[in-house]
Amino acid sequence: MAARRNRTKTRKRRGASHPNERDVATSIPTAFLERLAADVGPDRAKAMQQAIEVRANRRALRLNPSRLDRSAAETHLGVPLTPVPFNPLAYWLPEDAPPGVGRSPLHAGGGFYMQDAAATAVAPFVDPQPGEWVIDLAAAPGGKASELAARMDGRGVLVANDVSAQRAQALHENLERLGARNAVITQAAPAELARRWGGRFHAVLLDAPCSGEGMFGKSDIARQEWSEDAVATCAVRQDDLLDAAFALLAPGGRLIYATCTLNRDENEGAIERLLKRQPDATPVNLERTSGMEPGVLASRQDVRNASGRIWPDASFGEGHFVACLKRTGAQAGAFTADRRETPPMLASTEGMPSPLTLLSEVLEPHVVDALTPNLRIQGRSVWALPAPELPLDGLHVLAPGWRLADLTHGRWSPAHALAMGVMVHEVRVSVAITDATAAARFLRGEELDVGDAEGAEPRDSAWVWVTYQDVPLGWARQRGHRLRNLRPKRLRVS
Ligand SMILES: C[S@@+](CC[C@H](N)C(=O)[O-])C[C@H]1O[C@@H](n2cnc3c(N)ncnc32)[C@H](O)[C@@H]1O
Repeated sequence: MAARRNRTKTRKRRGASHPNERDVATSIPTAFLERLAADVGPDRAKAMQQAIEVRANRRALRLNPSRLDRSAAETHLGVPLTPVPFNPLAYWLPEDAPPGVGRSPLHAGGGFYMQDAAATAVAPFVDPQPGEWVIDLAAAPGGKASELAARMDGRGVLVANDVSAQRAQALHENLERLGARNAVITQAAPAELARRWGGRFHAVLLDAPCSGEGMFGKSDIARQEWSEDAVATCAVRQDDLLDAAFALLAPGGRLIYATCTLNRDENEGAIERLLKRQPDATPVNLERTSGMEPGVLASRQDVRNASGRIWPDASFGEGHFVACLKRTGAQAGAFTADRRETPPMLASTEGMPSPLTLLSEVLEPHVVDALTPNLRIQGRSVWALPAPELPLDGLHVLAPGWRLADLTHGRWSPAHALAMGVMVHEVRVSVAITDATAAARFLRGEELDVGDAEGAEPRDSAWVWVTYQDVPLGWARQRGHRLRNLRPKRLRVS
């Protein structure tokens, strides 16, 4: 097998002696190192090998801007944050940061997403505008899609898709946690989506499955699964995925292509092959940030300019590639959706109580009014659809939009996704937990006493939005002094 042929002898490095040394067991494939030296020169290749093998893989996070700012994050996480040059919302943690940052209640409340620094570089190039139609074709687990949703501020539509059932589930959970309000989450092959929705999107992101050379610093599996054959197989698959991605673009729309691998064939080469197949594709110059280099392995100058590379020796972490293309034609602003006849709102409420009563108990009237035109009951939930005209029949859809309420035992109750997506001025009753221990208890599913929270006077019976340091944790039902915890069992942490 090629994978074995190209692998050098396995060295066990369990228990690395230097604090920055990585504890990976498999050597970097020799054929990869030889190719890297040919591509970037022996000195640079040596520096990259050192970065991959020895330097710390520094953890980074990206803030969810409507929830958490840098100063609050530093205070509540108890660590200083260092700006990452690739994304204004991204920060490196100190090398000696405690391991539990991702277990903070601020994380559970969607205040931030743990994301490799280089991976944060991609979403800013998509630059989605509120109101646009945007699709992320290989979106799981949602690092980039959750930033796209935040940038769109609930307006327009973000289709977040992944072909893998298991990973699409993780994508769903992350978009819910980060409070996406305008996401349609699907599990489908990109070619199937292109067949249905070709020519409709202002922006398409393809963060493609790849041979993962940029992950060698932290992933034994990436090292073990790499081979020259695997690179070639990935490149063929990327050609197919790029064709699907391009077909989804409206005239004037933009395609952002990204990988976390370093070789030419899956990066600049994939773009050059696409340009040969698609005469109405044009490279778009990238405004690269510091630490990002042009696509040096391209044979065309316009592809070099349209590409950005973050090599592992510049990122304290992964390597990444990103490129931007445009579909020629009228401006994407001229795009119009195919407005189909959609069923009247809440047409299927016969025999059910109206969810509007519940929504009016929970949300301020202006929010209910704004949501009402796009409300639909599907299954036993009521959803606000960001794009009622988007045909979803026959697709595996994890979420057709923002889930607002669920029907159980003949009664509506507010959905967890609603708690995670609303803002403080949109809910009728809220209580703020100020103490981290009480927040942790709430995340475990425990009942609280109103004495544990600010703004909680005794009430007869009320739906209450529970927050901690301005991030939402979920709903509670308050009776007297007690807050009965409605956080879903699937999310309760022990
Ligand atoms: C690099 S990851 C995406 C990471 C994601 N964009 C993020 O930021 O969190 C690539 C994704 O492609 C998906 N994938 C694998 N094979 C695929 C295929 N043939 N078509 C579409 N997606 C595929 C994988 O399930 C994986 O989630």
